[in-house]
Amino acid sequence: MTYFKDQMFPPTISSKKTNFTQNFNIMFGKKKPVDKIDREQLELIENSQKRIKQKKRLYYHFVIFLIGAIFLIVLNTVLGVGEHTKIWGLDWFVFAILAWLFLFIFHLFNVFVTHKFMGKSWEEAQLNKLVAKQKKRIAELQTDLEKTHPIETAIIPAQTTLAPEKKTKVHKNLTLIAAAGENDAIGKDNKLVWHLSDDLKRFKSLTLDHCIIMGRKTFESFTKPLPNRTHIIITRQHDYSVPNGVIVVHNIEDALDAAKNDTQPFIVGGGEIYKEAMPYADKIELTRVHERFDADTYFPKIDSTEWKETENKLHQTDANHKYPFSFITYQRR
Ligand SMILES: NC(=O)c1ccc[n+]([C@@H]2O[C@H](COP(=O)([O-])OP(=O)(O)OC[C@H]3O[C@@H](n4cnc5c(N)ncnc54)[C@H](OP(=O)(O)O)[C@@H]3O)[C@@H](O)[C@H]2O)c1
Repeated sequence: MTYFKDQMFPPTISSKKTNFTQNFNIMFGKKKPVDKIDREQLELIENSQKRIKQKKRLYYHFVIFLIGAIFLIVLNTVLGVGEHTKIWGLDWFVFAILAWLFLFIFHLFNVFVTHKFMGKSWEEAQLNKLVAKQKKRIAELQTDLEKTHPIETAIIPAQTTLAPEKKTKVHKNLTLIAAAGENDAIGKDNKLVWHLSDDLKRFKSLTLDHCIIMGRKTFESFTKPLPNRTHIIITRQHDYSVPNGVIVVHNIEDALDAAKNDTQPFIVGGGEIYKEAMPYADKIELTRVHERFDADTYFPKIDSTEWKETENKLHQTDANHKYPFSFITYQRR
């Protein structure tokens, strides 16, 4: 994809699937070990991070409790605060410390007992139980209904067995970034069909230090991964090899999951991935190149009932830019 490589890397590689292995070796040197992060791995990482946080908080609680207890004792015995206040013959600070100790023990119990067995799998098991119960109840109601209203309910099974429509969740700040011709052309033979250096600069400045999500073909159009960006590659191949640090996933949802700690992840192409990711996106940064191009890959239509243009800046033709183009920002309505 020249969108990336023209500016940052020397163009060298074609990326047909058939000769990919060979290209890969040229692109990245010797094959490195597979570095895949699948959903399970991500969950494990998340869980262990959560446990570490819980234990850290418990430790801080313990330290604060110790300091607090000493402070209360000093307050009473050295500074004489509430010197004469006794409860059942004991100084008040003893009860204050005991109450605090109780809170600390409750916290300790939560971290080492409750969270241990009431974790994610416990929640899932509870949810499954609930769903099973409700299904059973629906089946019972349906049987009752069939008995009392045999004719009207003849159509009910078809309605109730319809699969629930899958809802796509828009991700805040998820941004599609692309350059497209007037006819929505974005590439041909796994390359761009123009070279616009100011557009490449803008791409670089916007995506630097962020996650960039892309299809396998777009990734193969790079000569090597782009510096200072986390690459998340979507492919259906389960044995797809990538250089260290590059994340491989097998669908859009997992890609978004892998990028969830980024405040603004970018979808950087190509045609297939733009189309699939558009319903999840919140923003589009489009460089509209004011020319029609012969292409084999296209950007999906931007529906004006869903998207509103918020910025539009024209860049004229000059010695470095063969075509005029506009930087257009769209926000989801
Ligand atoms: N102008 C621009 O801004 C811009 C930006 C980026 C790219 N481009 C151009 O776009 C072209 C490449 O786009 P493209 O549409 O051909 O390919 P692509 O979107 O980059 O990658 C397609 C590949 O992604 C994987 N994939 C797609 N949907 C998937 C899903 N739901 N689950 C799992 N894997 C999935 C498949 O990989 P497997 O076959 O491995 O399973 C598929 O072959 C090139 O010409 C490039 O230069 C242009």
